[in-house]
Amino acid sequence: MIQIKNYITENKERFLNELIELLKIPSISADPAYSKDVITTAKFVEKSLQEAGCENTEICETKGHPVVYGEKIIDKSLPTILVYGHYDVQPPDPMELWDSPPFEPVIKTTELHPEGAIFARGSCDDKGQMYMHVKAVEFMIKNNELPCNVKFMIEGEEEVGSDSLADFLEDNKEKLSNDIILISDTGMIANDVPSITTGLRGLSYVEVEVTGPNRDLHSGIYGGAVPNPINVLSKMIASLHDEDNHITIKNFYNKVVEVSAEERAEMAKAPFNLEDYKKALDIGDVQGEKGYTTSERYSIRPTLDVNGIWGGYTGEGAKTVIASKAYAKISMRLVPHQEPDEITELFTKHFESIAPKGVKVKVTPHHGGLPYVTNMDSLGYKAAAKAYEATFGKTPIPERTGGSIPIVALFEQVLESKTILMGFGLDSDAIHSPNEHFGVWNYLKGIETIPYFYKYFVELHKA
Ligand code: BES
Ligand code: MN
Ligand code: MN
Repeated sequence: MIQIKNYITENKERFLNELIELLKIPSISADPAYSKDVITTAKFVEKSLQEAGCENTEICETKGHPVVYGEKIIDKSLPTILVYGHYDVQPPDPMELWDSPPFEPVIKTTELHPEGAIFARGSCDDKGQMYMHVKAVEFMIKNNELPCNVKFMIEGEEEVGSDSLADFLEDNKEKLSNDIILISDTGMIANDVPSITTGLRGLSYVEVEVTGPNRDLHSGIYGGAVPNPINVLSKMIASLHDEDNHITIKNFYNKVVEVSAEERAEMAKAPFNLEDYKKALDIGDVQGEKGYTTSERYSIRPTLDVNGIWGGYTGEGAKTVIASKAYAKISMRLVPHQEPDEITELFTKHFESIAPKGVKVKVTPHHGGLPYVTNMDSLGYKAAAKAYEATFGKTPIPERTGGSIPIVALFEQVLESKTILMGFGLDSDAIHSPNEHFGVWNYLKGIETIPYFYKYFVELHKA
């Protein structure tokens, strides 16, 4: 398939310009102020599917933000690949930490991206990675290289938990039926160390509220004599890990499957340099659960982290006050076979049980999701590995990641489909952070590799 390289060379500028236009639209799913932009983005995606040669495109309304659908069915007897991605993005704040405005994309070189990277919110997560598929399919359709059927399902509320998606899948089982789901919404180890994501963690996310006195109080007149909800919350949070950094919630680890020594040894072969890791993050040392390596801590082990904490006076100068309330947002990353609802319940019970008598606590669950692990003996994994071999000249390393894409487990439950995660971003691309970027090389390499997946998947399917 030598033509894909030529096609990329000939169309590189256009591929970049189209993505830049897409990145200019602020499709922030979390903020209702941007709901118009979310719709504009959905329309942009629909139009690009049409221009790529897809048919029966549609903007499907859901209870939340719409899903964009499109397909190219060439022969019903051939396999069907369903491409999933998301066109919504995370809020860009804190704005002052961006070197250039988040929705005014610019291409700049970096140490890891000597050929340039596109800086913009959503460039890597996930507009850039999703758009690689649109361009790869455009190539296959325009050059008579599409070896099977393809369907696109691009959603607009992944970053807020895909709440409407369970219903959408149930209501559209027939339309979404497929032989394999293909997603580029994860990363790889390095540009010269290709890897395929073989696992995602699940998620349980809660918000907690601790209420002390019925009103804010003078911290001199009352301080020392009443429960201070911020002090109490801090202590409660601190107690959620023991001195070995194990999570102290009762029964939290009950269903965790211990990864075998063989598998851990296999995983340890993936290149990882602790010194570089610390240096890149400017931390004096790493921290985590005793008995596990850093890469195990962020992939095969469950975790609990405070994502936000607030209460009391945080404005200019000093105000002497004991707040009535304190809050925190807490995420727990889960591994097979932990279940988000069960973990949320264990958390709630535990949190209520450790609250001192003087305060009231309220736990509000947010979105959650199940973990996922790819079977490496599957046709899909083999086809993906062959595709990377064809374009990187190296066998990809299987790697479980710490992030979550809750829809993947839902796909398995509702559509009975397996997913292949072909991510082309780097951990250093700063997704969800200021100065998010996506390498131009990575973008084009993705476009180049995807058609090979189609080719090998269909070949292996026939065999
Ligand atoms: N694309 C990410 C997930 C991801 C990134 C997985 C990199 C592995 C490597 C996705 O958009 C995301 O941010 N997911 C959220 C969960 C969601 C329910 C908000 C996450 O992992 O925090
Ligand atoms: Mn994503
Ligand atoms: Mn994300």
